[in-house]
Amino acid sequence: MTIWNLGSINADMIYDVPHLPGPGETLSANRLDQFLGGKGANMSVASARAGARTAHIGAVGPDGRWARDRLTEYGVDTRHIAVVEVPTGHAIIAVDAEGENNIILFQGANHAISEDQLGQALSSAEPGDLLVMQNETNLQVEAAKMGRELGLTVCYAAAPFQADAVQAVLPYLDFLILNEIEAEQLQQATGQTVSDLTVQHVIVTLGSKGARYFHNGADSDFPAHKVQAVDTTGAGDTFTGYVLAGMDRGMPMAQAITQANRAAALMVTRHGTADVIPDLKEVREAQLG
Ligand code: RIB
Repeated sequence: MTIWNLGSINADMIYDVPHLPGPGETLSANRLDQFLGGKGANMSVASARAGARTAHIGAVGPDGRWARDRLTEYGVDTRHIAVVEVPTGHAIIAVDAEGENNIILFQGANHAISEDQLGQALSSAEPGDLLVMQNETNLQVEAAKMGRELGLTVCYAAAPFQADAVQAVLPYLDFLILNEIEAEQLQQATGQTVSDLTVQHVIVTLGSKGARYFHNGADSDFPAHKVQAVDTTGAGDTFTGYVLAGMDRGMPMAQAITQANRAAALMVTRHGTADVIPDLKEVREAQLG
């Protein structure tokens, strides 16, 4: 099986700061590092490192060939990443001493994916493959519809959260992942709780508390490992990529989530995004509390 990921690709400029800047504040960073990022690219790298065949559908500008090359080096199929005449997306990320962040996104080429490109990529998809999207590209609804028509398992990571973006894809979804606050925002927008949704599999991530899985009217909790976090950026994407890889391999969801919790725990102990996502061997062998 293949995981098809219609996903963003960013250059992440990560600034290590003493605290997250407030309104009107000028703040000196202690350090600046550049990583491959974007919620989409992070998920592709995570699922590839978890052992799943992963094909990324996306776009970079002429300044982003390095990002496509890096995804290839990380084992992602990049044949459906276009180079367009729009600058590559980027993210300005401040990370404080506790590992918390805030992020400014420049969408750039992530919103210049063409319908032809999407159609051509998915014409190679087979029923039973997975299709995942996040809210950082154009064509989310078109992809979800196409995925449903082709018999793919359609997955959506509702990040960055926008209630209307989730509502637009909701009728086509088999799997939805969002965090606690987003679940509340979705309830405010739709009047539906997570357990009211007709989506077959729903995961609500609970940050350092772990994750809750909703399926068939029941829910189960998966506590997170206790680790010393240095940077939480990309941990949610790593979790999602590992869950998808588990689903793709036919693992019971409980096992996929347990493994994804380990991957996310390891990820928060590292500075950076896609480049530092742990592989399956590291995830299996890590000594975690
Ligand atoms: O979730 C982290 C990601 O959000 C970063 O890699 C950044 O590029 C933004 O998309």
